Amino acid sequence: MGNSESNRGLEWHAGDMPYSTRFGDHFYARSDGRAECAHVFIAGNGLPDRWRGRDAFTIAELGFGTGLNFLETWRQWREHRHPSARLRFVSFEALPMRAAEMRRALGPWPQLESLANALIQAWPDNAPNLFAQDFDDGVRLEVHIGEALDRVCNWREQADAWYLDGFAPSRNPDMWSPALMQAVFDHTVPGGGFATYSAAGWVRRNLAAAGFEVLKQPGFAGKRDMSVGVRRD
Ligand SMILES: C[S@@+](CC[C@H](N)C(=O)[O-])C[C@H]1O[C@@H](n2cnc3c(N)ncnc32)[C@H](O)[C@@H]1O
Repeated sequence: MGNSESNRGLEWHAGDMPYSTRFGDHFYARSDGRAECAHVFIAGNGLPDRWRGRDAFTIAELGFGTGLNFLETWRQWREHRHPSARLRFVSFEALPMRAAEMRRALGPWPQLESLANALIQAWPDNAPNLFAQDFDDGVRLEVHIGEALDRVCNWREQADAWYLDGFAPSRNPDMWSPALMQAVFDHTVPGGGFATYSAAGWVRRNLAAAGFEVLKQPGFAGKRDMSVGVRRD
């Protein structure tokens, strides 16, 4: 998956809403991507409760996109964290956005402005294989650039919580394949888990076959269901 302009196929809807023509999908809920992140990925993973009292916590994500999930997580982390605690946010992305595109997409959320400025200032327009940066509040971001399956399989660590945020499974099946869901499971600490906006049956089956206990929860903004799961062993 190359990273040329045409390959990325980015279009803008309603001014600042990024849309992928390559995958035929928006990057997040059109109503409010930040509120969707809070509901699906943060609350879906039992956060902030699960990071309370922890010295270090690792979140991993499939699909960095605009960085919105990272920034909303950082915003909530700085409200709740113990002063010496550290958050690692590790994301996997094949088609990194340009800094100017991120700025345009993140414009609607004044709550994130100062954090978004810090991210955008550090973000390289020609992303290397691995972008790693320490930010304030004990936050470290690592973005592995490349095909998710390859990059997750080669990642040497495990996450406490996963955000599964590929485009819609019907349009972006590589981000939900049995092999990738197995790699996600293998890179989850025992007792850790995942959350995703998707409730597609085959995605849930792939996650269950990988070893997760998979549950349905109410989805965001009128969506009936989303999925969460735990690694029990
Ligand atoms: C729904 S968007 C993620 C939105 C993002 N979490 C945010 O906060 O803006 C899905 C992302 O997955 C990336 N992607 C799609 N297929 C991929 C693949 N096979 N490997 C890695 N990344 C992929 C896309 O480039 C896109 O940025």
